[in-house]
Amino acid sequence: MLLRDRVVVISGVGPGLGRGLALRCAAAGADVVLGARTEARLAEVAKEVAGLGRRAVTVRADITDEASCRGLAEAALESFGRVDGLVNNAFAIPPLTDLGSVDLDAVRAGLETNVLGTLRLTRLLTPALTEHAGSVVMINSAVLRHSRRTFGAYKMAKSALLALAQSLATELGPQGVRVNTVAPGYIWADNLKWYFDHLAKKRGVTAQQVYDETAATTDLRRLPEPDEVADAVVFLLSPLARAVTGQCLDVNCGEWHH
Ligand SMILES: NC(=O)c1ccc[n+]([C@@H]2O[C@H](COP(=O)([O-])OP(=O)(O)OC[C@H]3O[C@@H](n4cnc5c(N)ncnc54)[C@H](OP(=O)(O)O)[C@@H]3O)[C@@H](O)[C@H]2O)c1
Repeated sequence: MLLRDRVVVISGVGPGLGRGLALRCAAAGADVVLGARTEARLAEVAKEVAGLGRRAVTVRADITDEASCRGLAEAALESFGRVDGLVNNAFAIPPLTDLGSVDLDAVRAGLETNVLGTLRLTRLLTPALTEHAGSVVMINSAVLRHSRRTFGAYKMAKSALLALAQSLATELGPQGVRVNTVAPGYIWADNLKWYFDHLAKKRGVTAQQVYDETAATTDLRRLPEPDEVADAVVFLLSPLARAVTGQCLDVNCGEWHH
C-alpha cells in the first residue's frame, strides 16, 4: 500500500493507460480524482476504483481550458481536502505528417494540449501539492528516443513536455514537490491490439505474428501492459522515490536504453 490514504489527481483518463493509472493508484491505497472530457468513461473507471475499496471523484475537464482545469482542482480539494499526487496523462497526437508539410495550426494545437494544458493543471495544483510534499508525474513517450519520419510534431510536443518536467523539478524542488517523467514505448492495450489486427490483415499474417515481430525488438521479448507502466508511476508518486526528482523513467521492456 505505497499510496495509503493519499489523494492522486489523474488527467486524461481514457481506456488505456489512464484507466490503468486509476486502478493501480487505488490498489496502492489512494483515493483518486479522474479528469477527462468523456463523462461516461470516467464513470466506468470510477466504478472499478470503488470495487477496489477506494473513493473516486470524476470531473468533466478539458486541460486546454482554464475554467475547466480550475474546476478539477477545486473538486479535488472540496472532495478530499488534500492532493498528494498529480499524473498528467492527457495527450493529443498531432498529425503524423512530415514537418516539411505538416499544418502548423495542428502542431500548435498539439503543444497546447500536451505542454500548455499540462502546465496549466500543474500550476493550479501546486499550492495543494506543496502542502504535502507532493509528487507530479508526466506521461511522456518513447518518441523521445527516436526521430522517425512523420513523428516530428509529436516529438516536438513530448520533448517540450520533458523540458517542462525538468524545469518544474528545479522550480518546485525547494518547496518539496518532486516532478518526474515516465516514458512508455508500446502499451499492450486496446488501441495497439486494434492496430496490430489492422496490420496483420493488411499483410495477410496473424496478429500474433505482428506481436512477436514487435516484441523481438525488446530485451524482454514482450510489450508492457498498462498496469506495468502504471506501477512505475505509483513508485514515483510514493515515498520510495522521495529522493528522485527531475528524472525520466523509460518503461518499455528494454526497447530503448536510456
Ligand atoms: N498508447 C500508447 O501506445 C502510448 C505509447 C507511449 C506513450 N503513451 C502516452 O501514454 C498516455 C496515455 O495514452 P493512452 O493511449 O493509453 O490513452 P488513455 O489513457 O486511454 O486516454 C487518454 C485520454 O486523454 C484524454 N484527453 C485528451 N485530450 C484531453 C484534454 N484536452 N483534456 C482532458 N483530457 C484529454 C482523452 O479522453 P477524452 O477524449 O474523454 O478527454 C483520452 O481518452 C499519453 O500521454 C501518451 O502519450 C501512449
